[in-house]
Amino acid sequence: MTELKPLTPTFPLPVLLSRDQIHNRVQELAAAITKDAAGEPLLVLGVLKGSIIFLADLARALPVECSFDFLAAASYGRSIHSSGSVHLKKDTDAEIADKHVILVEDILDTGITLNYLCKHLHLRHPRTLRVATLLDKPSRRREPIAADYVGFTIPDHFVVGYGMDYAERFRNLPDICIYTPEPTS
Ligand code: IMP
Ligand code: MG
Repeated sequence: MTELKPLTPTFPLPVLLSRDQIHNRVQELAAAITKDAAGEPLLVLGVLKGSIIFLADLARALPVECSFDFLAAASYGRSIHSSGSVHLKKDTDAEIADKHVILVEDILDTGITLNYLCKHLHLRHPRTLRVATLLDKPSRRREPIAADYVGFTIPDHFVVGYGMDYAERFRNLPDICIYTPEPTS
């Protein structure tokens, strides 16, 4: 295997979850989703952009008829002046009504984004709506929402890699790493 070259002076970052751990857990999640699908087709809806690598691996482990589409949301929940509101940057074009929908997220943090997206999708009457999140940070939850499929429950670290970013960087790291922003002075 080719060794990764340092991307920044702070790289390599400490690994929280290795690519092997992620791979094994994704296969387990896919098995659970497959069992619950009971042979019915699935509409897999990814939340851009953080979920795309998880979605790509998860979907390839589903021996079920699948179609894909994507939504994008921006949460203002992290700003200190925030009302915790969400802005839908891109809606899905897919026909939702009467479909079995799996909403795929990278990380469930405050829950503000998923809470908004689930309410939004329920208005379009899916037959079922289930949420698969790779990571869950329950200690930061502000909305009482739980995912149906959770890869890993993690402590309150800011993580990057396997699709997740810090200021659009590090999405391509194959492992999930802990990122501690450098102090600005
Ligand atoms: P929530 O609305 O607070 O649950 O935030 C959900 C979104 O915030 C996730 O889909 C991620 O895009 C982003 N996010 C939350 N925590 C992290 C993190 O540790 N690393 C990277 N992105 C994160
Ligand atoms: Mg996200």
